[in-house]
Amino acid sequence: MKKLSVNYMYLEITRKCTLECAHCMRGNRQNVDMSDEILDNALKDVTHIQELDLGGGEPLLVPRVIENIINKIKFYDIKVGKISFTTNGTVLTPRIVELIRELQEIAPLNVRLSHDKFHLLELYVKKLTDRVDKNNELFTEMLGYNPKDKDFAMNDGIISRIGKAKSLTQEELDAINKWIKPTYYHLSSESPNTLDVVKMYDWDKDVVQVCGSVVISATGYLTQMDKEYELEDKGPIFGLHIKDKSLLTALIQYEKQCRNSVGKAKYQDYPEENDSKLKK
Ligand SMILES: C[S@@+](CC[C@H](N)C(=O)[O-])C[C@H]1O[C@@H](n2cnc3c(N)ncnc32)[C@H](O)[C@@H]1O
Ligand code: SF4
Repeated sequence: MKKLSVNYMYLEITRKCTLECAHCMRGNRQNVDMSDEILDNALKDVTHIQELDLGGGEPLLVPRVIENIINKIKFYDIKVGKISFTTNGTVLTPRIVELIRELQEIAPLNVRLSHDKFHLLELYVKKLTDRVDKNNELFTEMLGYNPKDKDFAMNDGIISRIGKAKSLTQEELDAINKWIKPTYYHLSSESPNTLDVVKMYDWDKDVVQVCGSVVISATGYLTQMDKEYELEDKGPIFGLHIKDKSLLTALIQYEKQCRNSVGKAKYQDYPEENDSKLKK
């Protein structure tokens, strides 16, 4: 069976969260974690991952899943270039601290702490501001940099009008803007088009190269980064699930569909005649 080398893999490891930010692109939080079965299907055929991003929900709420990922990386001997996650900073238990150190042993760790006005309002309302400040000091000590300094999409001032952000009126957004900090964030009228295309190379080799973003939802769908839970569960854009098929098989279909939807992109054709060889 062929193996995969992936340049970016995002795993939505949970949909649980400690906050209910008004702008949350995912929608309302859910009591759903990525299962062992999905995780195993996501990782068992992979040899290299240039960047592994642990997403959510609030990823630090699920030490069990993080531990599972660490074990699978070791068991399948996956070479990882960088591990990253974005956190709201509310959860930093001793167990999470241990797991962060274990992640750091696998690869350099890129942590981003969300500190936009929506999070700050939520922290203020839920009286969690001091806790996050303390946690951030600990993060800074462990990582050697302040995770507040790390860039992420919202720093560009772009808010996707999906999930809960869809129902915010301009007045509500303006009211939030007045609450905290200068208004250097703005709202785009449309969700930016962030179709995550995937291209695959080296079909004739044992390890197929996957260029692009491999985004896997907590429920096992190959999905897109800018998606809300509800759309993911309807089988997002392409409706490909890795519970009933291997990641390689799902990615072959995904690549074909990307090719159809992004007409101008130049794709190396997947050699159909190799279908039988791939299954060996
Ligand atoms: C979905 S959250 C998950 C990680 C963690 N719960 C957190 O908030 O940091 C990841 C990042 O997406 C950002 N985000 C959420 N909704 C957004 C939206 N509608 N547009 C742009 N960014 C959004 C959050 O502010 C956060 O920085
Ligand atoms: S933005 Fe992050 S912290 Fe806020 S509700 Fe969404 S997942 Fe939770």
